[in-house]
This record gives sequence, structure tokens and C-alpha cells, in this order.
Amino acid sequence: MDLKQQSQTLAPFPNKVAKITIAIDGYSSCGKSTLAKTLAHSLGYQYIDTGAMYRCVTLYVIDNKMIYHGELDVKALVNHLDDIDISFRKPEGAIDADAFLNGVNVEEKIRGMNISNHVSLVSAVKEVRLRMVALQQKMGHACGVIMEGRDIGTVVLPNAELKIFMTASLEVRVRRRFNEIKSKGQEVSLEEVKENVLSRDYKDTHREESPLLQANDAVVLDNSNLSHQEQLDFALKLVEEHS
Ligand code: DC
Repeated sequence: MDLKQQSQTLAPFPNKVAKITIAIDGYSSCGKSTLAKTLAHSLGYQYIDTGAMYRCVTLYVIDNKMIYHGELDVKALVNHLDDIDISFRKPEGAIDADAFLNGVNVEEKIRGMNISNHVSLVSAVKEVRLRMVALQQKMGHACGVIMEGRDIGTVVLPNAELKIFMTASLEVRVRRRFNEIKSKGQEVSLEEVKENVLSRDYKDTHREESPLLQANDAVVLDNSNLSHQEQLDFALKLVEEHS
């Protein structure tokens, strides 16, 4: 049984419990999306993947040739921010929502290595962050939302009732990301994935604009040695305590 099926066969969460807002932050490839999605399925919450939004902007930048020799044309990007429309929609029959850029489903495209290799350049731009944070705050306004990213508990939803900060060893994260890329039929080496994960960690934690930080009131979840089910149980217990 895969994780999606597991979460669907779980006993429904008691519906008398008030819905809360949950922020999940952490390093690249430490299983944030997997946990956030299963938790959302179990609770009947809405899941919002903020990394996908920065990936959509990066795809726009690449498609519109705003990166020359590894340098981003920040001015051109800022001038075109109004032309970038990002939304999440569920294709018919799907369980999870896909990312749409200007009306086109780009879910698969934004997960490729080319996007991963350039997204830190784009996500460090102040104007991009301001725009994405405003959009995320609008999406996170309702209760029953699980939002996942790097600055959710600190900047986007500082009043979230539950904040989880996820981490895992570098080896575990690299192996997970490598397997994920391979499972999509894309060619990549372990070394390339390791370089990308390390470089994104460095840039995410050192950028000037809302760097990746653990919120003071976040609960740390190191999942290096935890199964999917153990992580889900841990999170469900936290939700019960914070509802
Ligand atoms: O979660 P992810 O790997 O799909 O995120 C892609 C990139 O976007 C990541 O390298 C950092 C950036 N990001 C960010 O700066 N702030 C967020 N809230 C989410 C992602």
C-alpha cells in the first residue's frame, strides 16, 4: 500500500476538532511535501506547496531567457512579475493539485534539475518574495491549511497554530531526491543531486530576504530514521495537541 492509500484508510480525524493552520518548513529534500500531503489527506486539509510557486517563476524566467551565463536579469524579471500567474488546480480525478503557470499545467516541468539548479537565484529576489508571500498569505487565510516551504512559520504564517521544522541527514536527503528524479525517468548522478541539495541549503540559509530559519515555536522533526507512517503519526499527535 502506498502512502496515499495508507492515509486514505486511516480512521478519519475527529471532526469536532477545530481546523488549524499548519506551517511546515525545512531543508531541501527532507520529505516535507510527502508528509504535508499525507497529513492533508488524513485531516481533510488544503495543502499548499510554496516551493512550487518559486519553481513556476523560475520556469517563466528560463522560458523567457532572463538568465544569461548563469546571471539573472533581475530588472527584466521584476518588470514582468505582473505577467506571471500561478495557481493550483486539481486535474479531473486527481487526488493532489498541480501547479499551473499562466493557465498551463507545469507540475512535471518544474520538478526537473534545470529548474532546481536555478530556483535559488530567483527565490532570493526581494520583489519575487514579496509577491509570493502576499499570494501565500491570501491562500493561507482560511483554517485547515497546511503550507510547506522555507519561511512559512517565520514570515508567511507567523501565527500558525502548529509549526513543524523538518530535517534529515544529508545522505538520506540526497538518496531520496535521487530516487525521486530517477522514478520520473530523468537522468541524474548522485553527485549532481548532492551538489544541488548542498548549494540550495547554503543559499536558502544565507540569503538576505527571509532566509530558511527555524521558528522559535517550531517542533523539530528529524526524519532520517523514521518511516512515512511514523512521521504521520508524530504529526497527527501534534495536531491533536495544538487543536
Ligand atoms: O521545496 P522546493 O525544493 O520545491 O523549493 C524550491 C526552492 O524554492 C528552494 O530551493 C527554496 C525556494 N523556496 C523558498 O525560498 N521559500 C519557500 N517558502 C519555498 C521554497
